[in-house]
Amino acid sequence: MIDEKTQLSDTDFTKLRAIIHKNTGITIGDNRKKMLMGRLRGRLREIDTIDFKSYFARLASDAGEMQELINRVTTNKTYCYRTPRVWQHFSETAVTEFHAKKEKRAMRIWSAAASSGEEPYTIGVLLEDVRKSTLGFDYSILGSDVSQRVLDKADVGSYSDAAVASLRMEKPDIFNTYMRANDEGNFSVLPEIKSRIKFKLHNLNERLKNTRPFDVVFLRNVLIYFAQAEQEVILDHVYKLLEPGGYLYIGESETLTRLNTGFESVEPLVYRPKPTSGIAG
Ligand SMILES: C[S@@+](CC[C@H](N)C(=O)[O-])C[C@H]1O[C@@H](n2cnc3c(N)ncnc32)[C@H](O)[C@@H]1O
Repeated sequence: MIDEKTQLSDTDFTKLRAIIHKNTGITIGDNRKKMLMGRLRGRLREIDTIDFKSYFARLASDAGEMQELINRVTTNKTYCYRTPRVWQHFSETAVTEFHAKKEKRAMRIWSAAASSGEEPYTIGVLLEDVRKSTLGFDYSILGSDVSQRVLDKADVGSYSDAAVASLRMEKPDIFNTYMRANDEGNFSVLPEIKSRIKFKLHNLNERLKNTRPFDVVFLRNVLIYFAQAEQEVILDHVYKLLEPGGYLYIGESETLTRLNTGFESVEPLVYRPKPTSGIAG
């Protein structure tokens, strides 16, 4: 039986990192052995697996177990209205420019590593406020993630005080108008917002299929888990799904400066497709 003293051998650590990389693209650093062991020890116990050799056999034959591994190794920290200056740019520039184009269609937004949904619901409350005050404006939001566990939470959409604190503080009128206390003592968005948000399991290493291009993509606090080559592949997928003149937002500790991509910088954390990109289609 696996216990607190059980260690992950270097060989098994290497194998596990390779499995995680193959299935998510995530690169686990050399120094993350303890973290990985900490996240998986409980799982091995739950499924009565005595060692990593048996665990690898199970992963190879059971897609559900692979999803469980992905759920456990991803880092899902998020909250509503994270990094206010990105939201300012979104409201004041991206939405305004979309509206000025007088498109006869809904604005399409993709939260490409949506975690438990705080980011897509933040987009939702901001855009619902625009919809209420702007004749003919509508929107649709896709939230995707590689972890089914966080998407299940996103589908429910019930958020604690801590998860909504930044939105409540920075945008009190929007918070009070579009979020309601629910029976669990948490907060949820109004149904008309929820009906415009869809969630989908998606691995950023693969191209998102069956979708039209988006006006804005949020790809925040996820690139950091990938090596440079994979970041470029992901950004190429995103580039091909962004409308010309659309915007890409990334996370606070991220930059595209040293990467070969089709994007140009607008300001820190904000990018748009270069007018003509050298990236082959
Ligand atoms: C730290 S959260 C960021 C959530 C949100 N974008 C934010 O900035 O608050 C990172 C998310 O990326 C997801 N993720 C990691 N690898 C992924 C992949 N290959 N494809 C899609 N999502 C991935 C994780 O499951 C996690 O929910």
